[in-house]
Parts: sequence; C-alpha cells; structure tokens
Amino acid sequence: MTQIRAGITAVHGYVPEGVMSNHDLEKLVETNDEWIVSRTGIKERRILEGEGKGCSVMVIEAVRGLIEKSGIAPNDIDLLIVATVTGDRVFPDTANIARHHLGITSGFGFDINAACSGFLYALSVGAQFVETGKYQNVVVVGADKMSSILDYQDRTTCILFGDGAGAVLLQPKTDGTGLMDFELLSDGKGEEFLYQKAGGSCYPATVETVQAREHFVRQDGRTVFKAAVNGMVSSVETVMGRNQLTQEDITWLVPHQANQRIISTVANMAKVPMDKVMMVIEKYGNTTAGTLPLCLWEYESQLKSGDKIIFTAFGGGYTWGASYLIWS
Ligand code: UT7
Repeated sequence: MTQIRAGITAVHGYVPEGVMSNHDLEKLVETNDEWIVSRTGIKERRILEGEGKGCSVMVIEAVRGLIEKSGIAPNDIDLLIVATVTGDRVFPDTANIARHHLGITSGFGFDINAACSGFLYALSVGAQFVETGKYQNVVVVGADKMSSILDYQDRTTCILFGDGAGAVLLQPKTDGTGLMDFELLSDGKGEEFLYQKAGGSCYPATVETVQAREHFVRQDGRTVFKAAVNGMVSSVETVMGRNQLTQEDITWLVPHQANQRIISTVANMAKVPMDKVMMVIEKYGNTTAGTLPLCLWEYESQLKSGDKIIFTAFGGGYTWGASYLIWS
C-alpha cells in the first residue's frame, strides 16, 4: 500500500500593521539600535494594537488567507491546531475562538503550548491525523501576540519579540512529498531559564503579582542561547543522519528566529550555507510559534515541489527538535 504523508499544500501569514523599530525601543529602555542589530539581527518587529485584540485576530487573518488561496471551504477543515503561548484567554482555546469567527462549524480544534517549538510540535501532531487517512484537511497555525506578555521596562527581553501568525494546510500526499521525519524533544529543567511566573495556577493574578511585574516573560539569555544552539544542532544532525541527507541534499534550513547569531551558529555547525537558510528575524523579531510558518510565507515564491526542507526550533520548556519535509 502506498504510504500517505502529510504535505504542505498552502501557506499564508499575517503580521499586524503596527511597526516598532529599535529606535522606538530606545525611547522606552536603555538600549540602542546598534546593540540590538549586532547582538540579535533584529531591526523592527510588528505589534498588534487595539484594545481587546488577542492572538485569535492574527490566527483568523492567516487562516482566512489560507482558505482563499487553497480554495477549500471553511467546513472542509477537519482540524485546526493553534500553537501559541499567548492565547486569547487561559481557556477556552484560541483554535476554537478562531474556528467560530471563521465560520467553521464541523470538526474540532485545540491549542498546543510548546513556546517557540510550538509550530514544530503542531506540524507533527497534525500530520498524524492526515497520515492515518482520517482527515483530508488539517490546518496548523503558529501564532503569538508576544507584546501582551513583554515587560517594556526590561531591555533584555522586550527588544527580542514581536507579534505574528503563520498557517499551513496539510493534505494527504502519495507522490513522495510531505513530512518525512521528525525528532521532538523536551526537558523541564528549562523552566527556570525562560518562563512567565504568574497568571497560571501557581500564582494566579493578584494585585501583588501585577505590581511585581510577574506576568511578563523572563529569560536568562546566555543560558538559553547555549541550550538553543546545542539543541537545534543535535536534532538537525539526528534527522539528517537518519534520512541519509548531506548538506548538498538540503534545499532550505528553516530555523526558529530568536537571534541571528544563533541561526548562523546552527547553520555553521550543521554545515549548511547561509544562502540556504530562511531568515525573517530582521523585520519581525522573534514571533515565538509564528517564526517557522512566517519564514515559509515570506519565501513562498522561491519554494518548488521536491525541495528538501529541514525545520528546527528551540524554546521555553525547554522544547526543541527538527523535522524533515519534502515540499508539495
Ligand atoms: O526563542 C526562545 C529562545 N530564546 C532565545 O533563543 C534567546 C537566547 N538568548 C539571546 O538571544 C541572547 O542571550 C540575548 C540577545 C538575549 C542577549 O545577548 P547576549 O549577547 O547574550 O548579551 P548578555 O545577556 O550577555 O548581555 C551583554 C551586555 C550586558 O551588560 P554587561 O553586564 O556586560 O554590562 C547586558 O546588560 O549587554 C547588556 N544588555 C543590553 N545592552 C543594550 C542586555 N540587553 C541590552 C539591550 N541594550 N537591549
């Protein structure tokens, strides 16, 4: 029997109109454009503005574009998975809020919380439903409104992140394209190095948690930097080795966009030349679960059927991994 694989057959993205440049940040914290560009590669990031506008606003725009591009009807979507750490509410999940506004009345949806590796995890989860033959149309979204959990008094974190969403359509493929392999890993020891202290069941919101600024992202940047490089390189090597892929075989490396120095170190250690590496960090910063699909969206015109793509990500948890996909 021919093996069914989950192919990406459409991609779309959405970034909000509001642009926050490094010069804008200079007015908020003790920083400067030169430091941010040289240490991270980021020049600007997008910010979703407007009271009451949550992550679902971006999910809806990205999925709506995907529906238009692919020609499927909303109710053709069997499953919508949203990877995010900045869902509209603690519950219900953002996937179902988005499904309602998109007019999807059949099937189901759920969120995945794996921070910057969220899209990587969600892609593999969504693919399982396609590979079994159960579903024909699975939409996987990576989206985060990071500006909602950033402390614009903390220069070590607020300069890094931005808002954005990317969506892909997974459909069954029997032509040798699709998701070929993945290596997903996690290690809870990362909790203390990248986290949001309050807002969950340990420390629900109180006047004190708000006053102590505990509802914002905190990160030990240097520790996470090293862990990110090691985690991404080892998982890329595992996936490449298992699939007998050489550097020449790879058409694109799609790495999580946290820091240009991390990206170039990973590419260098995996011996992938930089002209094969997708990069959107300069204009979007780190959009957490949004980075990988936003890369695909930006490079869409350069993608050809048969391209061999390696995705890799690392994020809070720790969560990390790599996957290998042949473009449909
Ligand atoms: O996506 C999830 C995973 N996250 C990541 O992968 C992020 C990993 N970490 C990083 O990307 C980097 O560690 C950062 C970009 C966060 C920081 O870069 P760094 O080269 O590791 O800087 P550092 O933390 O070692 O700080 C160097 C200096 C410090 O000053 P002193 O102690 O040397 O006087 C910082 O206080 O730079 C200072 N600094 C800044 N200066 C100007 C930190 N942030 C800023 C800033 N502007 N925004």
